[in-house]
Amino acid sequence: MKKETIKPAKYVSGAAELPGDKSISHRYAMLAALAEGTSELRHFSSAADCRSTLDCLSALGAAVKIDGNTVRVTGRGPRGLKSSWRALDAGNSGTTMRLLAGILAGQSFSSKLTGDASLQKRPMKRVIAPLREMGAEIRGREDNFAPLEIRGVKLRAIEYQVPVASAQVKSAVLLAGLFADGMSTVTEPARTRDHTELALEEFGASIEKNGRTVRVHGLAGANGSGRLTAKSLEVPGDLSSAVFFIAAASLFPDSNVLLHNVGLNPTRTAILDVLAEMGASIQMLGLKSARGEVVGDVAAKGASLKGGVIAGERIPLLIDELPMLAVLGPFTEEGIEIRDAAELRVKESDRIAALAENLRRMGAKVEERPDGLKVAGRGAGKLRGAEIEPRGDHRIAMAFAVAGLAAEGNTVIRDAECAAVSFPAFYAELNRLAER
Ligand code: S3P
Repeated sequence: MKKETIKPAKYVSGAAELPGDKSISHRYAMLAALAEGTSELRHFSSAADCRSTLDCLSALGAAVKIDGNTVRVTGRGPRGLKSSWRALDAGNSGTTMRLLAGILAGQSFSSKLTGDASLQKRPMKRVIAPLREMGAEIRGREDNFAPLEIRGVKLRAIEYQVPVASAQVKSAVLLAGLFADGMSTVTEPARTRDHTELALEEFGASIEKNGRTVRVHGLAGANGSGRLTAKSLEVPGDLSSAVFFIAAASLFPDSNVLLHNVGLNPTRTAILDVLAEMGASIQMLGLKSARGEVVGDVAAKGASLKGGVIAGERIPLLIDELPMLAVLGPFTEEGIEIRDAAELRVKESDRIAALAENLRRMGAKVEERPDGLKVAGRGAGKLRGAEIEPRGDHRIAMAFAVAGLAAEGNTVIRDAECAAVSFPAFYAELNRLAER
């Protein structure tokens, strides 16, 4: 297990290269595999998670060619996938497992979906339940965990109220809905990222949106177009990866960071609003619409952060950014308190426990709660460099690497390579921008 030593920095400056958006990359690849013809996906995410998706799709018979950041996926239409003789391995990726479960539920063959030790501990009942309602036969360990065995059937359309605010659950039902007779309806309890809806539209599926309700027409039905069309698409830069550089910039008065072509879909930018409310200096420039997604440049400078409470309906819209936000707590005036975020306990690690443990290792004052945590601000003292145990979780590793830039003494990130789950070049980019 490789360790990464983070030395304190004076400031961060320059333009960081971001991987393509992870959520969008998964969706484009899956829909390309269900379309007829070859899709060209440029600036496709280099994340290990998206590689897991590509490997699963190729095991299911789609032709996948990777040429640097350009991925070409050739599909043979919605009925063109074939059964895989081996288990499909989603690796560390919840998105791969939950979204593929939706697609596999509607196939005319059986599949087995597995993943790494972390993924095998994450709840799958949330997708098993609606897909069963649609008629699929699914078996899982304790009826909740991978490996999952999915016997695909002719699905029936359902009206589903998602009990938990989860884009992955919404997406699993919408993708299964492509293979159902008639129109499937999904209503979510709070808004979540809408990349699946946008990608479905882009590839030619028939979608209707009304507030927190989305409807998709089965491809075979009267209103369904019957097919999806191969596309040539550019994936925007990953805002969730950009946030580590925006946070790093905010820690030093002399910082000046630029991020080009970042995905700024409004269901993802809540983190920028929260940081701006806390006093961060963030500018969005040259916003344009690209295939339903919004793309623009982001400039971030140093600023004194006030801190505050983050809770309620906002939480699902910045769920992946909460680790970085919590770790900024000791650098803020009032500290940071996160509530209503129990979902953090079932991510790639128990992120609430991982944050509390590692913040304490650096000398922060932390109160851990069932649904969040409260991190004391600057008054509680400066962070000290420490050994960080990221529990195999990419976002924990990256958040503490950023904190290490502004701590006293060196910070060592154990098992540092887990960052490659979403951002393989993270440490190289961070060191390139850090002035020491
Ligand atoms: C994702 C949805 C979120 C997020 C994950 C990616 C997606 O998960 O945490 O990193 O691509 O749909 P949930 O939908 O389970 O909250």
